[in-house]
Amino acid sequence: MAVAILAAGKGTRLKSQLPKVLHEVGGKALLAHVIAAAAQVVPPEDIYAIVGHQADRVRSAVAATGIRFVLQSEQQGTGHALIVAGDVLGAYDHVIVLSGDAPQITPQTIARLLNFHLDHRAAMTLLSADLEHPEGYGRVLRKNPRGPEVKGIVEEKSASPAQKKIHEINAGFYAFAVPQLLAHIQKLSTANPHGEYYLTDMAALLGKARLRVVACKTENSAQVLGANTRAELAVIDSQMRLRKCQQLMEEGVTIFYPATCVIDSDVQIATDTVIEPYVQVFGGSRIGTGCRIRSYSIIRDADIGDGVLIRPGCILDEARIGPNAVIGPYSHLRPGSQIGEGAHVGNFVETKKLKLGKGSKANHLTYLGDAEVGADVNIGAGTITCNYDGVHKHTTVIEDGVFIGSDSTLVAPVRVRRGAYVAAASCITEDVPEDALALGRARQITKPGWAREKRAKRKST
Ligand code: UD1
Ligand code: CA
Repeated sequence: MAVAILAAGKGTRLKSQLPKVLHEVGGKALLAHVIAAAAQVVPPEDIYAIVGHQADRVRSAVAATGIRFVLQSEQQGTGHALIVAGDVLGAYDHVIVLSGDAPQITPQTIARLLNFHLDHRAAMTLLSADLEHPEGYGRVLRKNPRGPEVKGIVEEKSASPAQKKIHEINAGFYAFAVPQLLAHIQKLSTANPHGEYYLTDMAALLGKARLRVVACKTENSAQVLGANTRAELAVIDSQMRLRKCQQLMEEGVTIFYPATCVIDSDVQIATDTVIEPYVQVFGGSRIGTGCRIRSYSIIRDADIGDGVLIRPGCILDEARIGPNAVIGPYSHLRPGSQIGEGAHVGNFVETKKLKLGKGSKANHLTYLGDAEVGADVNIGAGTITCNYDGVHKHTTVIEDGVFIGSDSTLVAPVRVRRGAYVAAASCITEDVPEDALALGRARQITKPGWAREKRAKRKST
């Protein structure tokens, strides 16, 4: 058994530089969704993506899945795509054909199509669905309304007014017996309004050769929607994200206002975590149990431990947050931020390549970049690690139990050793020894009575 995924088309209707099958829904390329479904039915080495338009770009985008590729260098239609794939398909008994632009297909539906095909000993089985708005799709012409047998498929552009009234559409997913497919596929012609080889014409061709062509109708019509336009992409994206929220809720996650949350398909969230309205969680993010993610936070490829509180308006990008940490409001955690267990990162704090130890706190208006901070450290408001000399980045090390007074600048490379104090408003350019106090600021001068004398002078003039 092989799976062929049609993915060579340009996607003219999207008016895009990006090939159609790389447009994303639910945070993942259309083609990646289809491959993920197919890979649950057959092993990746039996999956062939037929690529053509910007083939290299498509190939490298999904290469990690381990599937194979067939190059259709000129895109002369869906039938032509399978003509080109004929060489590799010859080794198989049956092939399932999927459309690279219909990402909501499930492994269950693919398996159902295949079983239907095998049960009916058909040469070709097509998946169909009844759509309220069938416009744009090929229509299924059944031999008689009750039987499974199909006379042909007519494309929208060639359909008569009566045929356009048919609501049963061709979903663009098929199962073929490979020997019969290859014996007849050369008979396809380009005598149609697009001048292309239509795979859909195989239905009538195989029928004429007295081979069995049947339709397997799915009740779940959302699964077959193709993304040919930006509007269709948006519809599929919102359906997918709503389904993702429903799935998470079934698994024990609270989502207050699901329609406002944008959660990518591959995100994992554990039970008893609460997601407030207007939260976005992207990529491969993982959120533990018993967390609360407050409104307006945007989380990408982050790993969040159990019991973490993310207050409103945080941006987390490739950050790792230890259990019971408290982040925000308005914290910006950039790549390489590792926040320890029970640590606090507060208002308007930006971090990058930071290791913040267990129980340490940086609560206000601070930049910590290229820094290693130990446990139980207090970073005062307005502290800045000066990590960049204009050419290179340098590291600041702050050991366990250190207290950094507010408004301090730490000019890296620099190390503040265990238990030391840095006085407020210090500019620290040299290492601070263990348990020492470092003051790096001008001494205060106080002039008694100065203000009174100034006022008196002003009155007398
Ligand atoms: C196709 C079907 C239509 C069906 C619909 C379901 C044909 C002729 N029509 O129409 O009956 O209702 O899908 O979504 O098949 N592709 C290639 N090589 C090519 C041309 C296309 O690989 O030379 C790929 C495209 O990248 C796409 C898929 O085939 O992933 C379908 O092509 P598309 O142009 O979107 O066909 P539809 O007009 O949607
Ligand atoms: Ca399509």
